[in-house]
Amino acid sequence: MKKKIAFELSIYKTEEELSVEDSNLLKQAVNARIKAYAPYSNFLVGAAVLLENGEIVLGNNQENASYPSGLCAERVAIFYAGANYPNEEIKKIAISAASNDYEVKEPAGPCGNCRQAIAEYEYKQKTPIPIIMRGESGPIYKCDAVTDMLPLGFNNSFLSDS
Ligand code: THU
Repeated sequence: MKKKIAFELSIYKTEEELSVEDSNLLKQAVNARIKAYAPYSNFLVGAAVLLENGEIVLGNNQENASYPSGLCAERVAIFYAGANYPNEEIKKIAISAASNDYEVKEPAGPCGNCRQAIAEYEYKQKTPIPIIMRGESGPIYKCDAVTDMLPLGFNNSFLSDS
């Protein structure tokens, strides 16, 4: 037997097609991206996390001369949200990616570690966390839940037999 696992991705040509909330969040992700510290890769990423109380938490990639010590924008933002607003649900996340060396024309999906990190909060709050993504130009992708992008993901249900 084989099982096919698929998910729906919404694709928008322009920001005008987005809701006001999504479009504003994406703009905040762009603002965050501009402040990224990415002197080694020249690849800048910004993440904007919208909380249930309406607050927006921003993050960007923070690189390090010891490369693995750096952290992606998504985790900088989501961990800040978890640390400072532990009881606030995460409503959605927008991600903006650009390079100083060339034009990023396609959305850059969050890396595997970031998908896992965001998924933790989705499992915790038991409501989906949609992800809105864009490069510097080109289409905007919206995924309805981060776990859609992480099929067969690991979660705390495996850590006990209950
Ligand atoms: N990066 C992110 O910030 N988010 C991702 O999901 C993918 C990659 C960063 C890490 C590194 O600073 C640079 O982009 C190049 O990999």
